[in-house]
Amino acid sequence: MNAKLISGTSIGNEIREEIKERVLKLKEGGCVPGLAVILVGDNQASHTYVRNKEKSSVAAGMKSELVRLPVSVSEDELLEQINKLNLDQTIHGILVQLPLPNHIDENLVIQAIDPDKDVDGFHPINVGKMIIGQRSYLSCTPYGIIKLLERTNTPISGQHAVIVGRSNIVGKPMGQLLLQRDATVTYCHSKTKDLASFTKQADILIVAMGQTKFIGAEHVKEGAVVIDVGMNRDENGKLCGDVDFDEVKNIASAITPVPGGVGPMTITMLLKNTLHSAETAFK
Ligand code: GUN
Repeated sequence: MNAKLISGTSIGNEIREEIKERVLKLKEGGCVPGLAVILVGDNQASHTYVRNKEKSSVAAGMKSELVRLPVSVSEDELLEQINKLNLDQTIHGILVQLPLPNHIDENLVIQAIDPDKDVDGFHPINVGKMIIGQRSYLSCTPYGIIKLLERTNTPISGQHAVIVGRSNIVGKPMGQLLLQRDATVTYCHSKTKDLASFTKQADILIVAMGQTKFIGAEHVKEGAVVIDVGMNRDENGKLCGDVDFDEVKNIASAITPVPGGVGPMTITMLLKNTLHSAETAFK
């Protein structure tokens, strides 16, 4: 293996320690940062994610409140819950776990969250602020990737960043955050023709396509920094990413593993956003 391993577990733990200290300071002043998570229905993956978010916020010294609603909950009832949490002064961050059942309009739900408590960074006000470079809550996965790049002293300015995937949660905001740091950004997606011709140009390659081990040696330039956002299971049921790690590790200069790469950073940044909200409210 030639590539340096970029460990989200250890960088995430470093940041969580910093968060813990700041939470302690706030608590000494009488404010306990509070994160509310709304979980609708029985999606197993969502249950696992939410449990991890709860555990991590408690470990950071925060208050965690889980609101569980049945899959049959009406849109109005869900909006009512959000409104209650918007008004609750002990809650600084609100997160509605996605996906939602089909009868509920996801956009309406996201827009119902007070933008000052939108620790997922999904509200159009926060997305708009991010795009024009104003301070806002940043979507946790791309924000976590920026921290991985910064804390490994990876140059961004002037580098060619190629992003595979254009979701609202990861791909789109990722490109904007890199653009703000003066990268040249190319977006690729499911309709891109000759994907390898683009990914091969990347100094920083960010892959968020949701396809098991899709990116192989033929997609990567020698010395590239490769960030794998994928979270899949291989034929043996083992967790793996969108990048074929065993192939790409011999070509890249640095690479994130799955698990232990981007995953732990997403929750870390959720805690960071919640802490920021509490610190702002408490000022
Ligand atoms: N579902 C998958 N990822 C996320 C996330 O980052 N936030 C929320 N709210 N739901 C998700």
